[in-house]
Amino acid sequence: MVASTLLLLALPDLLIADFEAASYGRWKTEGSAFSSGPARGTLPGQKPVSGYAGAGLVNSFAGGDGPTGTLTSPVFRLERRYLNFLIGGGTYSGETCLNVLHQGKVIATTTGGSTTNQDPESLRRASFDLSKWIGKDLSIQVADRASGGWGHILVDDIWQSNRRIGELPTANPKPYGERYRPQFHFSAKKGWLNDPNGLVFAFGEYHLFYQHHPFGLQWGPMHWGHAVSKDLVHWRELPIALRPDALGPAFSGSAIVDYDNTAGFGKPNQPAMVAMFTSAGGASTQSLAYSLDKGRTWQTYAGNPVIPSLADGNRDPKVFWYEPRKCWIMAIYLSGNDFAIFRSQDLKKWTEQSRFSLPGTIECPELFEMPVEGSSEWKWVFFGANYRYVVGGFDGVKFTPDQVPITGDYGDSFYAAQTYNDEPNGRRVLVGWMARFAGPMLGMPFNQQMSFPRDLKLRKTSDGWRVTQSPVAEIRSLYRKTEQVSAMELVQKPLNLGVRGGQYDLDLTLRVEQSTVAIANIGGAEVVVDVAKKELRLMDRTAPLPIRAGRVHLRVLVDRSSIEVFAGEGEVTLTNYLTPKDRLCPVQLSLSRGKAQIVGLTARELATSWR
Ligand code: FRU
Repeated sequence: MVASTLLLLALPDLLIADFEAASYGRWKTEGSAFSSGPARGTLPGQKPVSGYAGAGLVNSFAGGDGPTGTLTSPVFRLERRYLNFLIGGGTYSGETCLNVLHQGKVIATTTGGSTTNQDPESLRRASFDLSKWIGKDLSIQVADRASGGWGHILVDDIWQSNRRIGELPTANPKPYGERYRPQFHFSAKKGWLNDPNGLVFAFGEYHLFYQHHPFGLQWGPMHWGHAVSKDLVHWRELPIALRPDALGPAFSGSAIVDYDNTAGFGKPNQPAMVAMFTSAGGASTQSLAYSLDKGRTWQTYAGNPVIPSLADGNRDPKVFWYEPRKCWIMAIYLSGNDFAIFRSQDLKKWTEQSRFSLPGTIECPELFEMPVEGSSEWKWVFFGANYRYVVGGFDGVKFTPDQVPITGDYGDSFYAAQTYNDEPNGRRVLVGWMARFAGPMLGMPFNQQMSFPRDLKLRKTSDGWRVTQSPVAEIRSLYRKTEQVSAMELVQKPLNLGVRGGQYDLDLTLRVEQSTVAIANIGGAEVVVDVAKKELRLMDRTAPLPIRAGRVHLRVLVDRSSIEVFAGEGEVTLTNYLTPKDRLCPVQLSLSRGKAQIVGLTARELATSWR
């Protein structure tokens, strides 16, 4: 350590506040959340608070989660590199937080960290690195602007120091630059998302609508969020498309462009984009909304609902144009494992055609036709929200499966997937919701993400029909540094790949033998190729291992907190969240049993898709 660093460390800490007095002294309160002075520990109705120092702390649970307000320090001069403090409470970014202000602007912020019922009412140690601001006059603001569950903040002991005591949240992160923000997967700028909705290519853009709670990090009153992209890779979030209305929140659904103006919503040379969705207030019914300006603004149809409640919780209409009978077809979820098919000439009047069950599957049906790879035949594919699919025939009335349902994704985070209507290159592009059950990532203003868009192919294999998936080719626009390895024995000593940057695309082909067990350690997560057991494992998930001519092929997409494994030709996929121990840690390949040879390996660092 150099002498000047030692000198800096020797400088004493400077206390800003320990909240031990009966009043806040020169700190100013606004609103009612902070009452007239520091709390002495736990407040009435609160789970026991722990982790504070001494007897007093800032605790905005005064009056419960409801009241809001701010508590602001007098201005102080920053003379040390770090601001250390203790913090707990809610995780509403910008709402339940500690902010450092310079001339009224927030230069650093972090939230309490608790989100679920199981989370403790405790304070953790935290630090901001404010070295850029040494010599400047700053102030601290403790804010509680949230009123729902965890709508309060806990803060104690704040001091300046040249030693830090806790994790370092990124000071004042740029939108999409936050520590755990997916860099090439779509996530909402702020708030919660779940199912992709209304996937349609229209007027030069891919539209991605999604189940969205814009004001919270948990599922809540459902809106349709909206983003557009020209290439399925770079997304731009637009204003909210649909909001809860008199018929209830806007649950999942689909969108089409009504080029022939069958519904009469369009104007000359202005075809309407029409969304069909579930109005989920009370008994769920199906509704329409339309847009005449490329999806920018939406009008709900005055005649809503267009389909009354058919069963308790029936929902998620998927609509598409069926050319052979020149009509609109809709697949919809009824209840239990039951689904129905409807038809319409004008999107407004619907008649039921048939009903059927798909054991083991509920919600979010999809139905579409695909060409069979290498043949002139076309088949129909149907699946529900957990992406168990069946391949079969459809005559405009009835769907008839040819085989038993197939598991499409073996991970624990792929749900409610939908494909694009009107894909301009004739592809079938699938996007799923990457469901994360562990709650929002610490300090992030968003929660949940979409999968990377996947190109589907239908193949006839010796085991029957398989719908394969691979990342859409447009991912190429993000390729940066590339590393290649070929014809090399895999050994026990790990081979470290040089990919850095937290997000990359790996393509690996291994020659294997009967007893091979090979391991790829990726951001702390293990992908195990176990030929002996014919298993492919990712964390605690297991899938059948595709082996072809003694070779195993894996394509792996890694983002800051997610991993998608495509095995074989993509007939097996595993989609999971990562808890990266160190998101910049190297990718390592090693052998644990038998023999394996790397036939080819390409590792590509990916640029961010946020501009
Ligand atoms: C699937 C789902 C849908 C419903 C939506 C509500 O994840 O439950 O069935 O429409 O989410 O957000």
